[in-house]
Amino acid sequence: MRILVTGGAGFIGSNLVHALVGAHEVGVIDDLSCGSPENIHPASWFRTLDILDPSLGAVVAEFGPDAVIHLAAQASVTESIKDPARDRAVNVEGTRAVARAAAAAGARRLVSASSAAVYGEPAELPLAETSPKSPANPYGASKLAAESALADELAGTGADFASFRFSNVFGPRQDWRGEGGVVAIFTAAMSAGEPPTVFGDGKQTRDFIYVGDVVAACLEALLAEGRLADEGVDGPAYNVSTGRETSVDQLVAHLRAATGYGGPVDHAAAREGDVARSALDPAKARTGFGWAARSPLDSAIGATARWFAGRT
Ligand SMILES: NC(=O)c1ccc[n+]([C@@H]2O[C@H](COP(=O)([O-])OP(=O)(O)OC[C@H]3O[C@@H](n4cnc5c(N)ncnc54)[C@H](O)[C@@H]3O)[C@@H](O)[C@H]2O)c1
Repeated sequence: MRILVTGGAGFIGSNLVHALVGAHEVGVIDDLSCGSPENIHPASWFRTLDILDPSLGAVVAEFGPDAVIHLAAQASVTESIKDPARDRAVNVEGTRAVARAAAAAGARRLVSASSAAVYGEPAELPLAETSPKSPANPYGASKLAAESALADELAGTGADFASFRFSNVFGPRQDWRGEGGVVAIFTAAMSAGEPPTVFGDGKQTRDFIYVGDVVAACLEALLAEGRLADEGVDGPAYNVSTGRETSVDQLVAHLRAATGYGGPVDHAAAREGDVARSALDPAKARTGFGWAARSPLDSAIGATARWFAGRT
């Protein structure tokens, strides 16, 4: 299959591209605004391009994908608050542009990255695709609007599509500088013998999912026989998650075992806007295209810590 990955020089995208190359022809479009040139797979077809650039349609047509995984996004909550207009442009209009270009180029299926951020403070746990959506920041709002933009562009074109609401993804190549993910930030600190800083009381929970499981979800969705867009209630949205809550304190305990860090933990005030608990029910992805997260948390954290060792 010819698979185009937008955002393929980023954290999730580069893990996906590395898994696809060899079995598929892989194209990557990334403007390298956050992604790293080191992440570009030498055997992939690569173009440095902003998805908002007017030449996007021609570039996608040049590669001629059978399927597209759309991961390029303004993915920082902090940046979305600083510059909500840019966040909306990249995430909503960018998704619209990628969908239009993919359909025009004859792609048969498009999977687009959405986020647990569409739900905001959970009204119930675990969150189902149909749970109330109340985004707590511009990033969550733009991801929710992107889901509608995707459906607007592709309904009636014959192309199949889905939005995957990833929970908290972690693993090799995640950026540990700046905002990053808590697993990357803690792994980098503890691998270097430095204390992690826990915001709040450490009892807050997240649904941590290993990037290898997210890669498998994308691949299994592309190979699925049925249409993803028509699967049950809330149509083309799927949680890609474990359904399990892990507290930040439990995460620190796993990381102590994986990194050998035996020092203290720093504490700071809880951050405004952080949800207290989170878990997303992945049952629909299992019935829809047979995917479930398979990586035990301790071995996934171990693999992540091994990757970080020596890099920070
Ligand atoms: N990492 C997570 O925990 C998580 C959770 C939920 C959803 N997501 C979503 O998954 C996707 C991938 O996230 P990630 O963690 O790999 O982020 P990332 O920042 O590492 O990757 C995003 C990539 O998109 C590229 N990009 C940004 N704007 C672009 C533009 N205008 N044109 C072309 N390329 C552009 C960046 O250079 C980067 O390589 C994003 O859509 C993100 O919102 C991630």
